[in-house]
Amino acid sequence: MIQHLCDWLSATWLSQAFGNADWFVPAVQTVHILAIAALVTMLVMMHVRVLGLMRRAPPLQRLAAGYLPWVWCALGVLFVTGVLLTITEPGRELLNPSFRIKMLLVAVLIALTLVLQAGLRRDPQFWSVSPRRRGLGGAIALGSLLLCVGIIAAGRLIAYV
Ligand code: HEM
Repeated sequence: MIQHLCDWLSATWLSQAFGNADWFVPAVQTVHILAIAALVTMLVMMHVRVLGLMRRAPPLQRLAAGYLPWVWCALGVLFVTGVLLTITEPGRELLNPSFRIKMLLVAVLIALTLVLQAGLRRDPQFWSVSPRRRGLGGAIALGSLLLCVGIIAAGRLIAYV
């Protein structure tokens, strides 16, 4: 089934056009890597605040108000560049266990970020009102940072698996 999809996709004129342009994959991967840098930087800045590692930083809801729109923007750029790379080399990605694990981790990261955002929308103090909420917020923060490490490792491993 996936093999059929890869064969169909790589036979399309779009995949051929992208594949024949020598500059295309390196240019799209460069944009992908720049978006990774932006995404991870903003997530680290927010989550070290959630973990209480930077007490003199602005309140979480102000950090989140500033960063979250850009987090979703960076994820959008990662999705579009990722899809373009997949159209160009479908078999290299869709049949690759490292790519599949990576996409699963990306989905979990998006879910955790949505939960964090939903809490702050409900109450700016949502993640700091009680020890239980602080613990939950800390778990989301730590989980998100570990997911970033896992996604980057899985993304890099795609070329070797
Ligand atoms: C949002 C959906 C995403 C899609 C569809 C996607 C897809 C891809 C694809 C197709 C590649 C090329 C792999 C190859 O052929 O070597 C790639 C590379 C990579 N991706 Fe993503 N990605 C996404 C999000 C992310 C995120 C969120 C991160 C990190 C936080 C990330 C980190 C990486 C890394 C480190 C590489 C290897 C870059 C390289 O070696 O040049 N990706 N991604």
